[in-house]
Amino acid sequence: MEFKILGNTQNVTQQANKLIISSAEAEAHITIYSDSIIRINVTRQPQNNEPSFAVIQEPQSKLTYQDDDNELVVTTAALTLLVSKNPLRFAFYTPDGQLLSRDDERFGVTWQNSQVINYRELQGDEKFIGLGEKVGNLNRRASSFVNWNTDAPDHTPLTDPLYETFPFFIGIHSGLTYGLFLDNTHKSYFDFGASCDDQFMWLGADDGDLNYYFFGAQTVAGIIEDYTWLTGRMEMPPLWSLGYQQCRWSYMSAQEVLDVASKFRENNIPADVMYCDIDYMEGFKIFTWNKETFAEPKQFIDKLKAMNFKLVTIVDPGIKVEKGYQQYDEGVERGYFATYPNGENYIGEVWPGRCHFPDFFREDVREWWGAAFTALTEPGVEGFWNDMNEPAVWNQNMPWIVKFGDKFMPEVRNVYGMMMAKATYDGTRKILGNKRPFVLTRAAYSGTQRYSAVWTGDNTATDEHLLLGARLVNSLGVSGMANVGVDIGGFSGNPTPEMMVRWNSLGTYTPMYRNHSIKDSEFREPWQYGADNLELIKKSIEERYKLLPYLYSSFYQTSQTGLPVCRTLAIDYTHDHNIYHEDYQNQFLFGDALLVAPVISTEITAKVYLPQGNWYRLSTDEAFDGGQEYVVDAPLNDLPVFAKAGAIITQQSVKQSTQDKGDGILEIHIWNGTEATSFVYYEDDGDTYDYAEGAYHKRLIIFDPTKKVMILDAAEGSYTSQYDKVQVVLHAFADAKLLSPVGNSNDEIVIYY
Ligand code: GLC
Repeated sequence: MEFKILGNTQNVTQQANKLIISSAEAEAHITIYSDSIIRINVTRQPQNNEPSFAVIQEPQSKLTYQDDDNELVVTTAALTLLVSKNPLRFAFYTPDGQLLSRDDERFGVTWQNSQVINYRELQGDEKFIGLGEKVGNLNRRASSFVNWNTDAPDHTPLTDPLYETFPFFIGIHSGLTYGLFLDNTHKSYFDFGASCDDQFMWLGADDGDLNYYFFGAQTVAGIIEDYTWLTGRMEMPPLWSLGYQQCRWSYMSAQEVLDVASKFRENNIPADVMYCDIDYMEGFKIFTWNKETFAEPKQFIDKLKAMNFKLVTIVDPGIKVEKGYQQYDEGVERGYFATYPNGENYIGEVWPGRCHFPDFFREDVREWWGAAFTALTEPGVEGFWNDMNEPAVWNQNMPWIVKFGDKFMPEVRNVYGMMMAKATYDGTRKILGNKRPFVLTRAAYSGTQRYSAVWTGDNTATDEHLLLGARLVNSLGVSGMANVGVDIGGFSGNPTPEMMVRWNSLGTYTPMYRNHSIKDSEFREPWQYGADNLELIKKSIEERYKLLPYLYSSFYQTSQTGLPVCRTLAIDYTHDHNIYHEDYQNQFLFGDALLVAPVISTEITAKVYLPQGNWYRLSTDEAFDGGQEYVVDAPLNDLPVFAKAGAIITQQSVKQSTQDKGDGILEIHIWNGTEATSFVYYEDDGDTYDYAEGAYHKRLIIFDPTKKVMILDAAEGSYTSQYDKVQVVLHAFADAKLLSPVGNSNDEIVIYY
């Protein structure tokens, strides 16, 4: 095996914004994307300048450096990069000289044949979070991971890799933080000191460049903000997609879907979305409807619409090999599919049997795919579920000589799902005009948040998976992917009634709340578990609908800053060791101010850790001091959720669908505190892009206990709020008086109490 190690500097030049340092083995290109983001690309193919799938920004700042005999110093307002020349090694410091992260002096960057690896020093107390959809602990120290998008049915809480690739992590040590994004689409590796006597951590890939972005912001939130500036942020999701979603593999006919939808309405269980899994199609052929069981798609969807439901349908990439099937004929004729090197179309088997796979890396193919969605949008579908796009083939082993254009499968496998999601998003965005499409994908790469939500694939009906789901959602949030769901109840297997109740109570606080299950599982709808449990599940769904004005505003925050909706406590309480403890690592903040402690179905008490500050149990307003652990009651009807002192939570009364008018009252719940807090309330029509033209309603809500005042700032934007009254509800105020209703003037409202 060829082994090379990055050696001594031979030459240093600057070309425009780029500093180029060459050695005998490679060139290192350094560019400054912003004060807090420096890119280093160590490349053996300097001519090869392919655009990134993930990065949407250009370097913003001019690079200046000092050169002395032994080292180069690159400085920005937020970072200092020291480049030792002999051998060539990189070290990042804060402007005041504190070490953030540096190469292992001995090994730095190495190549073993085409594989490129970077060995980096491991700091004594260093912790790591991130990497997106990865199992294991919140703190990834002493663990190793592979990125290779994989269809992982029946995965366990130990299985790696799963479906998605987010090669971005955050390091935390000595009261400092930094981030690192390895933008390399090949199979990649991250090892946080797993098996090397704590000598180093390492990261790298099977081929390509050691191309990474180093983030120097000194808060986790700041690093996420920078990372999502670089790779893009999600846009506002359609409001209906934040309601309750009911799925199953499969409701076998239009009538069955309609019956289930009606039952939600009969039982007064709020819900917004029904799904069609693969059986709505004719022989699993994408962009077809089964002529017998879904004979009149438009009539069917009209009936759903009349009940205020939206429909999401599944599409897989595999195009059935069958003459006379439009997508097959067109794809073959135009050469749109992945091929072998001799030009033959590759065939792999998936649900429809033998299939070809569209080359989503080509713009013309993406356009063709996107335009085909009229088969679904014309009858009225508004949500598009992209599955099996790792890409999955039976036996999980697409040959490595399969080509997508000039690229072999291993070079681009990790981005195939993202490009399918992009094709789906771009196409449906165009077809739906001003309406927001909802796209959901199983496979993803960094940047997919620009096009789609994700879910965590085929989980199982166990308590371990319930807890794992919370960690996966939180970890994806650290990696820029805020709109995430898990299959509530577990995809495979059958949950006990208690598990179903418990999992729904967590569903309330999951960005995307979808109940989904495998073929032939027991039915999972809320009424399948007896009258008492129905009441409990209904209560969780109702709670979700009450919180929608808060959740939607949290998504607005995500769209502006990248900060996720579900936030591991490592975001706000980064340097508090307790939050990484196995007992507490599943806890998270839901938006700014609610702390959620997931609990398994067999426990009725829970050990929780409340970080610094004061907290109130949401269900009782009982007060707790932070910085301590507690054992609290956690009966099935009361998941431990805590409001932070000073919390401002906007709510509404229960609606059956996001499309219902409701009672027109926006409730502003405020929990007492000692310091001033604020919340940006955001609302728009929930359905179109008019917000981009100013049609939104946004107001800052301030609570300042030092001045005993609440201020509802004047509304910004041209959209008229759907609520005509605002009601302030006080919690944990000694002389609590209900201040209601105070009207919904667009002007500033000041309330002294
Ligand atoms: C895959 C998906 C699952 C879906 C099934 C049938 O297993 O992960 O959600 O129900 O395929 O389409």
